[in-house]
Amino acid sequence: MIAAPARSAGTPVVLRAEPVTAQVLPKGEPLIRMLGFNGMTPGPTLRVQQGETLSVDFQNRIGEGSAVHWHGIRIDNAMDGVPYLTQDMVADGADFAYRFKVPDAGTYWYHAHNRSWEQVAKGLYGPLIVEETLPPRVDHDIPVVIDDFRLDDAGALAGRFGNRHDFAHAGRLGNFARAFAAAEHVRIGDRVRLRLINTATARSFFLYVTGIEGVVVALDGMPLSRPEVIGDILLAPAQRIDIIADVTRSIAIDMWTQNGNHRLGEIAVQGVNPAEHGPITALPKAKVPVPGRPDRMLELRLQGGAMGGAHQGNDLWSFSGISNLPDTPLARIERGETVRIRLINETRFDHGIHTHGHHFIEVRPDGGHGAYRDTTLVKVGETRDLLCVFDNPGKWLLHCHMLDHAASGMKTWVEVV
Ligand code: C2O
Ligand code: CU
Repeated sequence: MIAAPARSAGTPVVLRAEPVTAQVLPKGEPLIRMLGFNGMTPGPTLRVQQGETLSVDFQNRIGEGSAVHWHGIRIDNAMDGVPYLTQDMVADGADFAYRFKVPDAGTYWYHAHNRSWEQVAKGLYGPLIVEETLPPRVDHDIPVVIDDFRLDDAGALAGRFGNRHDFAHAGRLGNFARAFAAAEHVRIGDRVRLRLINTATARSFFLYVTGIEGVVVALDGMPLSRPEVIGDILLAPAQRIDIIADVTRSIAIDMWTQNGNHRLGEIAVQGVNPAEHGPITALPKAKVPVPGRPDRMLELRLQGGAMGGAHQGNDLWSFSGISNLPDTPLARIERGETVRIRLINETRFDHGIHTHGHHFIEVRPDGGHGAYRDTTLVKVGETRDLLCVFDNPGKWLLHCHMLDHAASGMKTWVEVV
């Protein structure tokens, strides 16, 4: 479960990756053996103030190498947590000191970045909340981690991680899904901030949140300039959505399935808060670079996979026929260049494409600028243009966050010099 927030200005927080038993199943049902941080999965919620330095002493005790990636943070490259690209592997029994500034307020998360299709599926992740200097007033700030799990008949985490079938299809989809809300109850009339985080390794969730009236204020950590009414929510792996809303009755988080709605989680109501809250306004604008006229175009054809995904790559998936990390970066980009990235999905599967170290703007079909994100869902048959100002020097991964796809080819890297 999610523990009390760990405040972390200055004094390092210890994050110890280790085997855990977790109440993944509803209370009363058996615990499941997983991996976690500090004895739990999801790992503890880390909270830090915008502009401050987060200090984490990572201790790897899982029996194999690992590293921690701070998903969505526009981070110092050396702290990005990608073994062999930005740091050495943290061996079992070894430690690594992560120290980095958090430039943007918002909802982020951290997760293992070695054999992540397995380590993340086993539970090595947790929320990372960067608080605004002047946070909007709410009665409860509630991270909600949404994940699915593949369980075997005995109710344990199923094995066969990294099998070719999962890799070549939609990835390791679970047969049990759950939303872990960091609050058990709220009052009717409370104003809440829900921070939904999809930590699943493969599944996009169609979500319905009921029991609240309010707006979406941020996507992937980045404030929307104009909050939007909460419609149906589609959350690809690694994506986040922040909602600020007033409670009208018990809050339910449901996912759509072919057999109807399935309840992922609930926050019960207890009592009434008669306070008047006033309108919900936009979060303070992020200080992110605004893309200019693109200096160049990077076209990436998403290729491979089962059911006819022929391509030139030497693994199951590729970007334009190149599987996995080439020795030299896919592109060397001058610091500050705006790049138009065109993602063309030629496969029979959806892909959630993530850029490390940078947020980008999704270009809408009409050519207008959409939201700032760090992960974009490109569905079967879709083409998506992104505008990204590469202003953060270093070696950055760009990969599918369906982690099985990344494991079997759908990843590359760029270098910002
Ligand atoms: Cu959250 Cu390289 O990923
Ligand atoms: Cu993919």
